[in-house]
Amino acid sequence: MPDAARDDAAPLLSVQAVRKAFGAHVVLDDVSLDVHRHQVVALIGASGSGKSTLLRCIDLLEDVDDGVIELEGRDITDPRLDADAARARIGMVFQSYNLFPHRRVLDNLTLAPRLVRRTPRAEAEERARTALDRVGLARKADAFPDQLSGGEQQRVAIARALVMEPAILLLDEVTSALDPELVGEVLELLADLKRSGMTMLLATHEMGFAREVADEVCFLHAGQVHERGPAHQVLGDPRRERTREFLRRVTG
Ligand SMILES: Nc1ncnc2c1ncn2[C@@H]1O[C@H](COP(=O)(O)OP(=O)(O)O)[C@@H](O)[C@H]1O
Ligand SMILES: [Mg+2]
Repeated sequence: MPDAARDDAAPLLSVQAVRKAFGAHVVLDDVSLDVHRHQVVALIGASGSGKSTLLRCIDLLEDVDDGVIELEGRDITDPRLDADAARARIGMVFQSYNLFPHRRVLDNLTLAPRLVRRTPRAEAEERARTALDRVGLARKADAFPDQLSGGEQQRVAIARALVMEPAILLLDEVTSALDPELVGEVLELLADLKRSGMTMLLATHEMGFAREVADEVCFLHAGQVHERGPAHQVLGDPRRERTREFLRRVTG
C-alpha cells in the first residue's frame, strides 16, 4: 500500500485537474477537489453543471479526458489498474434507486458481494442484514422493492452500497425522485452515516441539508469549481457573484 494510503493527512479522494468533454461540449474543465476521511462534501450547481458527470468519472463509469483521480493514494484512472477493484472501494447511489424489482430486498443486497466478491451466501446475508439494520430496515429483508415506499427503496439502495464497505459514498441527488414527505428520512440517514464517520461526496439540491451536514460545499460553474469552502460560508456568505446568483435562484 502506498504511503499516502496510510497518511491520515492525505486526502482519501483527490480529483486533480480533471477534464471531460462530450464531443465539443466541455463539461468538466480543470476540476480539482479533495475529500478527506470522514468528510462530507456537497457538490452544488445548476442543472447541467457537471455534478453527475464528475461523480460518474470518479466511479469510473466515464473516462476522463485529462487529469488524475486518486483514491487512497492510487490513481484510479490509470488504465493499467483493475477498474473493478477500484470501483469496489466506492459506493455509488443514484437518484433512481435501480433495485431489481423481482428480487427480495435481501437478495438485492447479496447480489454484488456474491457475484463480485464470491462471498458465501450465509456470510453475504449476514452482512446484508447488518446493512439493512443500519438503514433501519431490518424488518423489510423479505419484502420486494415495490412493497416499499420510495424513501425505503432509496434507503435499501444506500444499504446495498454500504454492504460492500466502501471507502467513500458518492450520492447523486438521492432525494430528487422522492415525494417531499419522504425526503426527510433519507436525509436523516445520511446525517446518521456522517455521524458514524462515513466519507461522502454528494450532489444535492437540498441547500438546507448541505448546510447542516456538509463540511464543505463545492459550487460547480462553467466546468470548474467556482467556489469552495465551509458549508456555512459558501451557502451563507458566498464570496463570488455567480455563487450568490445561483443561491438566490434556488432558494427563491
Ligand atoms: N453521455 C453524455 N453524452 C453527452 N452529453 C452528456 C452526457 N452526459 C452528460 N452530458 C451533458 O453534460 C452536461 C452536464 O451534465 P450532468 O453532469 O448530468 O450535470 P448535472 O448533474 O450537474 O445536472 C449536460 O449538458 C449534459 O447534457
Ligand atoms: Mg445530475
